[in-house]
Amino acid sequence: MANNQSNESASRKIAFFDTTLRDGEQAPGFSMSAEEKLIMAGALCDLGVDVIEAGFAAASVGDAEAVKRIATEISGPTICSLSRAGDGDLHKASEALKPAKRSRIHIFLGTSPIHRKAKLNMTKAQVLAATERSVSLAKTLCDEVEFSAEDAIRTERDFLVEALECAARAGATVLNVPDTVGYATPDEIYDLFRFLIKNVGGAENAIFSAHCHNDLGMAVANSLAAVRAGASQIEGAINGIGERAGNCALEEAMMVLTTRRDAFDLSIDVDTTKIMAASRMLAKITGNPVPRNKAIVGRNAFAHEAGIHQHGVLNDRRTYEIMLPEDVGLTGNALILGKHSGKHALAARAKELGFEIEESRMGAVFTSFKAMADEFGEIADAQLIELICGVTGTSSEVWRLTRVEMRAAYGGNAEPFARVELEHPVRGTVTDIATGEGPIHAAFNAVQHITGLKATVEELEINHVGATGRTDCIADIVLKIEGERYVGRSRTRDVIPAGVEAYVDSINRAIAALNLDAFGNEKSLPSPANSKDAA
Ligand code: KIV
Ligand code: ZN
Repeated sequence: MANNQSNESASRKIAFFDTTLRDGEQAPGFSMSAEEKLIMAGALCDLGVDVIEAGFAAASVGDAEAVKRIATEISGPTICSLSRAGDGDLHKASEALKPAKRSRIHIFLGTSPIHRKAKLNMTKAQVLAATERSVSLAKTLCDEVEFSAEDAIRTERDFLVEALECAARAGATVLNVPDTVGYATPDEIYDLFRFLIKNVGGAENAIFSAHCHNDLGMAVANSLAAVRAGASQIEGAINGIGERAGNCALEEAMMVLTTRRDAFDLSIDVDTTKIMAASRMLAKITGNPVPRNKAIVGRNAFAHEAGIHQHGVLNDRRTYEIMLPEDVGLTGNALILGKHSGKHALAARAKELGFEIEESRMGAVFTSFKAMADEFGEIADAQLIELICGVTGTSSEVWRLTRVEMRAAYGGNAEPFARVELEHPVRGTVTDIATGEGPIHAAFNAVQHITGLKATVEELEINHVGATGRTDCIADIVLKIEGERYVGRSRTRDVIPAGVEAYVDSINRAIAALNLDAFGNEKSLPSPANSKDAA
């Protein structure tokens, strides 16, 4: 495995400039309140990013407040505000940054022909004059100044050199070269940074920085090409969020430089075990789940379902893993039990749960397991326990959704409510009517009242599936019950029953795992030894 190499040698350090709260937050569907930004800034601070771009103070009162609160409460990283090249913006940025232990103003100004003409209506000389003036003023207002030649990639090379020289002369110590439109290839970025680092006069002590957008899916590769060429700062966002297709996904760049240190020989100073926490917090705050197959932080990134893969990983993780899940802060089991899993994985998970499946019983358990996997897809621990203890009868003691009616209220004073009917082999048919913030929320409340279990929804994803003829809704839910997470899944014709059925499915799994009776009270679980006897 190439990871876990020491960062102690004297290799060049790469700084991470996190713009999750600025470039990331300005993308449609990702806005955050000042309070949410502060929480997220805490996670970025734990991760150890070097700079947090907390917002664009002049953009709104809320953004200025967020920058100020982060500058007041977060210590460790440099706190930065974006600013246009005008006095008004610069003063607002400086005011918001005042409480910061170390502050940075990040000035951006378009330098490419299209930006000069279509956006700014400025000549080259005017762009240089505005750069000079704004950087000089910013220098008096904060600890450090970063200058971004917006759309640098499409700027004439000689003018780009002039603009960066002008910014450096006026006092900018960080020179950012953004690929604003995500157009460049890694070879082009490498070549451009080599050229600029060699030709920008008076920038010997400046930090060259890469800010790559992901329109063609090359943001991470381009950022890494820039640092190979001599840049010392990567700008990006957690989960790769940002304008349009997003920015360089910082967690990916971090793990490339850690896992493939042999290829880059660059050092970084972040705690990669905090990656997963930052990623999940962002997904939760913004309500944008991370795609399952997303590198580093997707649910499948360290998961194995295929039987052959699981067998290999059980023998030696290095057969299919180039990084340790623990290195990105992932704990718990990475083997997904599903229809592709083999007997080795089944036996291993059962053992972890405290159950030894005897040789003579394995065939029957495995057959039931495959049938269950065909029906449910992923098999949760609670389901596996039910299956192993099948003879105890716990598997039939589940709640079933038989009816749900709701009122959705939009506007006016009518409160949303739901009437839910569940059926249970011991308690029979039970009905409850509850209110909630919305009809689904009300239905979840009703299920809680009936089953006696308090649960919070951690994730709920509903997808339409099926292209021709019949389409179904698949709902996947994760509930937190008594500190543990339980998954639930359902497939029905409509969104509402799918969501409520998945909720009930998850509750059933919790009931089995926690060994509760029909009223939500604890009962005695057959011990692992009992389960063998029962076999
Ligand atoms: O993409 C871009 O050019 C930017 C600048 C403000 C740096 O986000
Ligand atoms: Zn950007």
